[in-house]
Amino acid sequence: MTTQEIAVNYVYLLAAMLFIVGLKMLSNVKSAPRGNMVSAFGMLLATAATLFFITGATAISLVWIGIALAIGAMTGLYLALKTPMTNMPQMVALLNGFGGIASLLVASGDYLNKTDHQLGETQGYVLFTTGLAVLIGGVTFTGSLIAFGKLQGLKITPGRPIQFPGQKPLIGLLVLLGILLSIMLIEQPSAGWMIGLSVAASLMLGVLLVIGIGGADMPVVISLLNSYSGLAAAMAGFVLNNNALIITGSLVGASGIILTNIMCKAMNRSLANVLFGGVGFEATTSGPTLAVAGGHGGGSVRELSTEDAAIQLEAAGLVIVVPGYGMAVAQAQHGVAELAQALENRGITVKYAIHPVAGRMPGHMNVLLAEANVPYEQLCDLETINPEFEQAGVALVIGANDVTNPAARHAKDSPIYGMPILDVDKARSVIVIKRSLNPGFAGIENELYFHPSCGMLFGDGKTMVNALVAELNETA
Ligand code: TAP
Repeated sequence: MTTQEIAVNYVYLLAAMLFIVGLKMLSNVKSAPRGNMVSAFGMLLATAATLFFITGATAISLVWIGIALAIGAMTGLYLALKTPMTNMPQMVALLNGFGGIASLLVASGDYLNKTDHQLGETQGYVLFTTGLAVLIGGVTFTGSLIAFGKLQGLKITPGRPIQFPGQKPLIGLLVLLGILLSIMLIEQPSAGWMIGLSVAASLMLGVLLVIGIGGADMPVVISLLNSYSGLAAAMAGFVLNNNALIITGSLVGASGIILTNIMCKAMNRSLANVLFGGVGFEATTSGPTLAVAGGHGGGSVRELSTEDAAIQLEAAGLVIVVPGYGMAVAQAQHGVAELAQALENRGITVKYAIHPVAGRMPGHMNVLLAEANVPYEQLCDLETINPEFEQAGVALVIGANDVTNPAARHAKDSPIYGMPILDVDKARSVIVIKRSLNPGFAGIENELYFHPSCGMLFGDGKTMVNALVAELNETA
């Protein structure tokens, strides 16, 4: 190793340490923004060291690198500024896809740049990881594009799971083919057709894997594809013999799979069920319907007026707000913060119960409530808040459904059986804001709505929350 290479590797080591510290800080809402900056600084160091090394060791012009950096940075900045918070999952999907295709191009480009003689001298593990970078990168690319399309509601990628006979065996065959080609490349290094075939197989595999999954499961898929993009980058790192890429890729791969696992656990589903279970239905775009009066167990639904609801809220010592996907759709977070302020002005304690899979992406509720300047200390996770519902005068559910369904505790035939839920039914009274009795993502009736202590405030989340604020202000 030259002195220059040794110096660059020390910088990579420092960058890796910054990534790990940054990741650790991301696990806490308060320290997350600083964690982001620490990791970004690590990436800046690694990039600068690589540029220094490349320009010192090869003839690649800095001009080309500068042009690529400028295009990438401008596109990233534009996307980040333009994308609304509710479209973040799509944006992450796209970025994962770019990561995947970058690894595919880097690995296949490196392969194509070598002469037959150089390929003959290339070590077996480099050829093998070239094949894997192409395979995983390609799957990540097309899989992420399909995930993007499903979340964006594009016509060519319907939200419902698309499954056909023979799909799973075909997926299995393509995976085997990709791995086999990577192994065969070690034996026949100059057989470039294998790389071509591997590219085609991996692109097809990504499509087949993701079209079979329902739109609402896309957050889990995106997290899994994020992990794949990391693995593909790590493989490309072996191809280029770049330690920074190997470490970063491994960290992304590991954190992506951990997050995937957390989400699956929070839904009480296995990863296999998410990937191959075909769970999910096409979301209805129809307006509100006041259906199913007299549903669960013959019980009836009690409808509240905003006046009734305001009176209940004013009488409570502790109000626990339970936000869900509907709050995000209605963009009601600012109204919710105003409502909480109006209650606090009356000496009422307000807390927020955050279910790990409320909404449609990890941390969805935290991000929205932070946007409305809700103090972090008031956001409580499931384990912390569940014992507190018994002391709550009101559990105010805003656009949350499945995460509050008591059926998860006892109905063995329910698709959500075993999913940890927020125990809102244990509060003295429950107020639910949603537009109708329509089900949530799981497509099942919520028995909470037929509970004697539960009252329904039917309407759009933002409109209803604002109406409650107006009621409270009138009586202030
Ligand atoms: P859901 O169970 O999906 O329910 C959301 C409710 O919001 C719907 O029942 C809908 O009822 C209501 N809604 C929609 N638009 C509204 C509006 N403008 N105003 C008021 N209400 C509105 O949501 P959740 O309780 O947050 O649970 C999340 C679900 O997603 C879980 O089943 C979970 O497993 C799944 N999931 C989540 C994730 C992550 S990472 N978050 C990942 C995969 C799957 P109306 O139509 O009657 O208004």
